[in-house]
Amino acid sequence: MSINASARTVMERCKELAGYSEEPDRLTRRFASKAMQQVNETVKIWMQAAGMNVEQDNIGNLIGRYEASQAGAKTLLLGSHLDTVRDAGKYDGPLGVMIALACVERLHTRQVRLPFAIEVLAFADEEGLRYNNAYLGSKYMTGTLDPSLLHLTDIEGITMAEAIRSFGGNPDPESLHIARWRSDELLGYCEVHIEQGPVLEARNIPIGVVRAISGQNRFSVTFTGEAGHAGTVPMSLRHDALCAASEFVLSVETLAQSRPEVVATVGQASVEPGASNVIPGKVTLSLDVRHQDNEVRELVNEQLEQIAREICNARAVSLDWQLLQEHKTVPCVPGLTKLLEQAVVDLNYPLLSLPSGAGHDAVTLSELTSIAMLFVRCRGGISHNPAESVTVEDVEVALRVLEQFILLLSTNNDPKA
Ligand code: GLV
Ligand code: MN
Ligand code: MN
Repeated sequence: MSINASARTVMERCKELAGYSEEPDRLTRRFASKAMQQVNETVKIWMQAAGMNVEQDNIGNLIGRYEASQAGAKTLLLGSHLDTVRDAGKYDGPLGVMIALACVERLHTRQVRLPFAIEVLAFADEEGLRYNNAYLGSKYMTGTLDPSLLHLTDIEGITMAEAIRSFGGNPDPESLHIARWRSDELLGYCEVHIEQGPVLEARNIPIGVVRAISGQNRFSVTFTGEAGHAGTVPMSLRHDALCAASEFVLSVETLAQSRPEVVATVGQASVEPGASNVIPGKVTLSLDVRHQDNEVRELVNEQLEQIAREICNARAVSLDWQLLQEHKTVPCVPGLTKLLEQAVVDLNYPLLSLPSGAGHDAVTLSELTSIAMLFVRCRGGISHNPAESVTVEDVEVALRVLEQFILLLSTNNDPKA
């Protein structure tokens, strides 16, 4: 199959996978949902046809393994995630899995075996949409999924443990500490992903090599005031939780705007009791804070908590500030990343190294092995949006680079050097 035909297959498959959704008119695929089961079944068939042995692990990650030319060889990990955000685009996650799969498919067609095995990983949850906790899939595989998360409930009150069970898995807390691989069994993890930002398009370059993945926090911030009658309680006697929360949302924007490259987002808000004639008694907000410099991010977190306290004090509203998640900035150090850059140079594409503001499964994998990431240009830098778009030409470039990277790796015995 020509490389152009493989790139077209990648595009068609991303389109087909986007048809598996929990919602009729938009793409939403949460962890352990029926739509996830459907994509896993579909991708499993493609992986098997590409010469891989396929298994679905205990929490729903799909793993396709393409054996090495000899027993006892190390393993190269490739892949990305198959879950999505709400009202998602087609490429955030699935593109990386489909390009990895296409690489193996092309080896299989030529009946080529490498001096290392390849595992194509399709993670069951990177976005954290269902339990507001990201990287569940990669954390499980690296033995770092915190057992206390099994008790988290989704919007319907279903615990993570129940969701895993109904997906056919076994949420045994003991098993959560066991990594799928030992570090010394691995060559590293390489993830292809859409850029999700505008830099490559602005520079007119199809692909870029990731330099670092920004650190991030997720918080749950609850304002508790006093519910009351919208018609009878005078304005001066109210403790309106939504007014406090709204003041906070604007302060988040103001503070983030005042600090170079800090990004902070309130993406969810729930208002209780939630009636037009009742003063809001309780509001819970999500808060996402990111920056490349861990110290800057930590300082911003402290300042935001302090601002929330001041707003609450002034309004006699109480505050519950919960840290849900913290990931430090992960640098993509030489080793695999150098090899990926070499692949770009060998093929005469311009080499651009750029940071990632988005989080990726590579963050979790970096605790176990060397990582590298290749970004693919996307139209208008738009992502987490159904308008996400990549071209087949750019997908072909990414495929070429990944193939060259694999070729370099098969002739380089120590990529960590
Ligand atoms: C994942 O897409 C994230 O960066 O939140
Ligand atoms: Mn995403
Ligand atoms: Mn992603």
